[in-house]
Amino acid sequence: MIKKAEYTRRRRKLMNFMGNNSIAILPSNSEVTRSRDTEFRFRQHSDFHFLSGFPEPESVIVLLPGREQGEYILFCREKDEVMETWHGRRFGQEGAIKQFGCSDAFPIEDIDDILPGLMEGRERIYYEFGNHSEFDNNIMGWINILRMQVKTGAHPPGELIDLSHVLHDMRLFKSPAEIKIMRQVAELSAQAHMVAMKECQPGKNELEIEAEIKYQFAKRGARHEAYNSIVAGGNNACILHYVENDQPLLNGDLLLIDAGAELEGYAADITRTFPINGQFSAEQLQAYNWVLKANKEAIKEVKPGKPWTAPHDAAVKVLTKGLVEMGILEGNVEQLVDEEAYKPFYMHKTGHWLGLDVHDVGDYLIEKEPRTLQVGMVLTVEPGLYFAPNTAGLAKKWWGIGIRIEDDVLVIKKGREVLSKSAIKEAAAIEKLMSSSV
Ligand code: GLY
Ligand code: MN
Ligand code: MN
Repeated sequence: MIKKAEYTRRRRKLMNFMGNNSIAILPSNSEVTRSRDTEFRFRQHSDFHFLSGFPEPESVIVLLPGREQGEYILFCREKDEVMETWHGRRFGQEGAIKQFGCSDAFPIEDIDDILPGLMEGRERIYYEFGNHSEFDNNIMGWINILRMQVKTGAHPPGELIDLSHVLHDMRLFKSPAEIKIMRQVAELSAQAHMVAMKECQPGKNELEIEAEIKYQFAKRGARHEAYNSIVAGGNNACILHYVENDQPLLNGDLLLIDAGAELEGYAADITRTFPINGQFSAEQLQAYNWVLKANKEAIKEVKPGKPWTAPHDAAVKVLTKGLVEMGILEGNVEQLVDEEAYKPFYMHKTGHWLGLDVHDVGDYLIEKEPRTLQVGMVLTVEPGLYFAPNTAGLAKKWWGIGIRIEDDVLVIKKGREVLSKSAIKEAAAIEKLMSSSV
């Protein structure tokens, strides 16, 4: 659990960076209609969550460093007996102050009346433009109100600064409490993957396995998936973001599952690939073991001081060697790597930052150079090989083999901790687990 004091520390750090004479304004996510009168399940904006832990829509965080009457103001919905009877509980202003530590809270309906006054006299506005077009217009509207009052002595802010840059850099480095949650969510997701392996059988549908995964997440305390699970049998595994998950599982095919739970907002992102009937064919095993080797070599590259691209470079080298040894590519491995000859079979990068967003925030380049890995960063390592059917020049025996092995890795002082390590990945261990299923 992230404690109230940690949210306070985060806001303090941000405000120290901003300096007095500035204001930060951050709106929550809005509810999104799914169909008439029904909404998609609400998910708070990750930045908003990071700074407040406040779970409601129609809310706005305002930070005012150095303000004597209080530095943290929250606008949120008022308590309303009728609305709460129909739509669920609200914290209201009193709850916001008591439980979320704001200095003051106001009804969201009053924001037009109050916010220009809070902006007045502050030089800089920190705000994330482009996330929320309606709110962007509100910001300009409030500035314009102050501009019209210049003659009567108002002092409108002169500078608009992107809030996301500093905030996202903070989010990139995980605190001990965040790491604890990420360890937990990776572990429970790993357990769900192993249940899916056991439950898998020819004749079942991808949808049943998806449901099993969701059930296992929920049973272990994670209400949500961090992203739509990919449950891709056979050829479907060659579609990278396949989410239809509605086809029968065929004897002799592989099943690729890319699924991770979300816990207290933090994501796991794990992929395992295994034979639907529990036994790898010779070709499947050959390709699988190259991807596994790439996964392991890439993970070894995760350590402080390495460029974040080092795992990708290691993976590409192993995969290209594998493609040559399998007779799929011909030539000198180094030259083939330089020419990116692997690209028809490995077209994505080997990882990304992981955190409150599955593709988490934080710069990948610093002054055009790949960022260096540092303690507290979490990233995925996810090499794969995809042999789509009807690929020109590719022998038919490889068609329909799609493999990815994805782990979640924390950078620690000594190197790395693989958060998803409980999800087995040795081919023999998978076959053994699957043969023990009922
Ligand atoms: N599940 C999305 C990804 O692996 O990046
Ligand atoms: Mn994934
Ligand atoms: Mn991923």
